[in-house]
Amino acid sequence: MTEVGIDAIEIWTGKLKLDLPNTFAPAKGEDPEKYTKGLGLNASSFPDTYEDIVTMGANAAHRLMEHEGLEPEDIGRIDVATESSFDNSKPVSTYIAGCLEGVYDGKFSHANKGERKFACVAGTQSIDDAYNWIKAGRNRGRSALVIATDTALYARNDPGEATQGAGAVAMLISEDPELVSLSTEQGYGSADETDFLKPNQQFPSVDGKRSVQVYLARMREALEDFEGVAGRARTEDFAYIPFHTPFPGMVRKAALFGYRRMIRDTQQEEELADEIGRQPREEAFGVSGQGPESSGTESHADEEAYEEALNEYMDGLKRTDAYQEWYGRVIDPTLTISREVGNWYTGSVHLARTSALRTAFEEDRDLAGERLLVGSYGSGAQAEIHAETVQDTWERKIADLTIDQQIEDRYDLSYEEYERVHDVHNHDIESDLDQGEIEQFTDPHGEFVFDGWGRMGERKYRFVE
Ligand code: CAA
Repeated sequence: MTEVGIDAIEIWTGKLKLDLPNTFAPAKGEDPEKYTKGLGLNASSFPDTYEDIVTMGANAAHRLMEHEGLEPEDIGRIDVATESSFDNSKPVSTYIAGCLEGVYDGKFSHANKGERKFACVAGTQSIDDAYNWIKAGRNRGRSALVIATDTALYARNDPGEATQGAGAVAMLISEDPELVSLSTEQGYGSADETDFLKPNQQFPSVDGKRSVQVYLARMREALEDFEGVAGRARTEDFAYIPFHTPFPGMVRKAALFGYRRMIRDTQQEEELADEIGRQPREEAFGVSGQGPESSGTESHADEEAYEEALNEYMDGLKRTDAYQEWYGRVIDPTLTISREVGNWYTGSVHLARTSALRTAFEEDRDLAGERLLVGSYGSGAQAEIHAETVQDTWERKIADLTIDQQIEDRYDLSYEEYERVHDVHNHDIESDLDQGEIEQFTDPHGEFVFDGWGRMGERKYRFVE
């Protein structure tokens, strides 16, 4: 059977940095550890004034095509996943293809282009579309280019402001992939939710605390659904578990729920029983769900008693050596990039996967044939879980990534500069960018930049040598 998966990956970070403990915290009058320890973030990436979702996506895709020696003729499909789109009709993929056609001889006239929307899970859905297109035999030997690109900005003073970020991840989806192949099995947890949305507005309306609960509930359902088709997931089945990472503290919560479920009714649960007891069972409390947000017909009191017992067990579990060792080995390596760049919405789970593979590469670990369990999530809300198998050639695809250098090279904004940049990217604030009067903090070279507006209100771009 033909394997399909991710053949190559490239990352482009926004070129500005907002330092959370040293710049953001003092301006907000907050303890720096709220960000570094609580949310688990050191910094956010921001787009410079000449950057946007098109430039970052086109730059990631260009770099990927150069690295892989590809021409437009080799790409049969370009799908862009974003929740920062600026046009309700013309897809961002057409802008990106237009940019790329400016630097290649060939055209993408044969390529199917689209834009995928389901909050942060859309990047994974685009990979899914490419997978199905290839499996259906419609690709004529070509690969698909999937680009997850976002400027994840929140309104000033929104609690989400600390979790902002901006960047793009470009991925090549091919037959016989050289990085990871995707499992046929997948699980979903999907429900009509209003935890985070942008009803024709640039910055999201967010019920932050609820969004955390909704993430956990949908992720639990997706894991159950995945196990229904792939069999029980065990802690030792997966080398790494990359999750959608709005901020690392969110993954800390999700991982603990996942671990509890994976050790349930196993020897591991028995071995921990002396230290922290056995997991509370729903039946013993007369409840049907497994929290958070159990949806059975239980009484409120039963549910509360169960939740209390569960929280106590989870508190104990997270302190055990077994859990800490697993978390350090399987989860923590997925968070290293995210900690420095914040939330990239559609790109976030793909950063998590890359982060893990890069750690393995740096540790000279032999990962070929090992499996990953990938948990994607989009508000609104849907979680998806599938497994991936690392291919023999994976190291070659990770060795040349420049993300560390890009992170290092970002311009470190003062708080006043951050406020100005936020305003420049705010669609409701009149910009004089097209008059060339807006300051830029970095000098572009060898990349696409925003170049003002066209006569029909379209955005224009050019390549800077
Ligand atoms: N030292 C150490 N830890 C500290 C601390 C300190 N001085 N001060 C606070 N903390 C801890 C808190 O205890 C808390 O940790 P726990 O949740 O483990 O208890 C953490 O830091 C955050 O503190 P608060 O809850 O007080 O922070 P907040 O209310 O200001 O904001 C948030 C948190 C609501 C999640 C906010 O960041 C937000 O709205 N974010 C946007 C929404 C989001 O990302 N939701 C995630 C799920 S939805 C999703 O995943 C889709 C997506 O990409 C948006």
